[in-house]
Amino acid sequence: MGKDIVKVGLLGLGTVGSGVMKIMEMNKEQVRSRAGTEIEVKKILVRDREKPREVKVDPSLLTTQAAEILEDAEIDVVIELVGGLGAKDYVEAALRRGKYVITANKDLMATAGASLLQLARDKGRNIYYEASVGGGIPLIRPLKHSLGANRILRLIGIINGTTNYILTRMDLEGMEFAEALREAQARGFAEQDPSNDLEGRDAAYKLCILAGLAFNSNIDFNSIHVEGIANLSRRDLLYARELGFTIKLLAIGEETDAGLALRVHPALVPLTHPLAGVLFENNALYVEGNAVGEVMFYGRGAGSLPTGSSVVADLIEVVRSINHQVENGVMESDFRDKKVVPLEELNSAFYLRLQAQDQPGVFAGLANAFSAEMVSLDMIIQKRSREGRAEIVLVTHREKEKNFNAALARIHKFPGIMAVNCVYRVITS
Ligand code: NAP
Ligand code: HSE
Repeated sequence: MGKDIVKVGLLGLGTVGSGVMKIMEMNKEQVRSRAGTEIEVKKILVRDREKPREVKVDPSLLTTQAAEILEDAEIDVVIELVGGLGAKDYVEAALRRGKYVITANKDLMATAGASLLQLARDKGRNIYYEASVGGGIPLIRPLKHSLGANRILRLIGIINGTTNYILTRMDLEGMEFAEALREAQARGFAEQDPSNDLEGRDAAYKLCILAGLAFNSNIDFNSIHVEGIANLSRRDLLYARELGFTIKLLAIGEETDAGLALRVHPALVPLTHPLAGVLFENNALYVEGNAVGEVMFYGRGAGSLPTGSSVVADLIEVVRSINHQVENGVMESDFRDKKVVPLEELNSAFYLRLQAQDQPGVFAGLANAFSAEMVSLDMIIQKRSREGRAEIVLVTHREKEKNFNAALARIHKFPGIMAVNCVYRVITS
């Protein structure tokens, strides 16, 4: 016999929590009918009960005491939208008391997901985390279910809305980095600590979750190579356009013969690639499966209602599994350990911008450094020099990263080179 009413405790009423409450009101009938039963939000945990809210809620629902939710035997489902690693205690406490958990917390799922999912299994419960990656875009469920027949060969994602928003505004509108970041924060895309977005950690947490599901593997977050966009300048976006590229923060996971390759870094993306058209806070995940071929998921990767949409969809699924005693989300228990290939062993094309003395022999010296390490050049730009200083931009063909680094070490030592400004990888296909 199912329950007539499923009671929910909400931890957090910020950007995502407000979106959840708005959707529960806006689509009340549909949610009820899809879930097959009434859903009641019984209590909501916040830090400050007096704070003005984005959504109207009965003030008596608000509490600052987590125990009022975690220890309430009537509450079947806990939705964790507080964020951060500190939320682990809440999730563990909820599972230990036999509650189902829904979370949007990628930091937590990437670093402690395996142990939390094990605890859930031990208690005959489950954790639902669709909103933890890609905001409103369905990614977790497709990887678990719809693409389940495939061996996934490669994932390439734009999975951080804040950095994509910043890069788009800098690239298309000439906006400065700091102003674009302020706007992303005002729109609720950025993390509580925006350095997680800017330094690539948020995207790496998400890659950790996606790669686990795609490659059926336990992924150690620390095995992911991570670089952010904090030092990216408008100058490089302009050069990239001149060469037929844009710059995106990419999260890339591949299963090669040598093992898994996992990395987050800014990269030049050809303007003709589908990922180049993913603008503002939108996210996309491009997946290559050995049966399905190429598939791309696209949509709002952050924000109140898009992320709330994934949370409420999880809630509908939880309520259905409570009432119909069905459970089909246990694949994480089959994960295996797989070798991760060091970055140095991977192949990439590279973009390099440097300052050189405008003198005979400098270009020849650069060419020699690359040829000595068997790195072949694909494109070169040099503008008219000013005050004896020439700015040179080079793009290489795809070569082993360790060969490129060896060439770069030679270039650093070459007397005609005044500064190496930046190096970015280039996506060629
Ligand atoms: P947020 O706007 O900062 O909201 C956090 C909420 O949690 C607030 O209501 C806050 O209370 C409450 N809270 C925080 N610490 C608390 C504590 N120690 N005790 C009691 N209440 C506490 O965060 P958010 O943007 O909604 O993000 C929530 C989660 O969703 C995070 O894991 C985030 O990574 C994830 N996520 C966010 C987005 C997005 O677009 N924002 C998208 C996908 C996933 P007060 O309101 O009283 O301060
Ligand atoms: N800070 C995250 C982003 C929120 O910008 O994508 C969504 O996870």
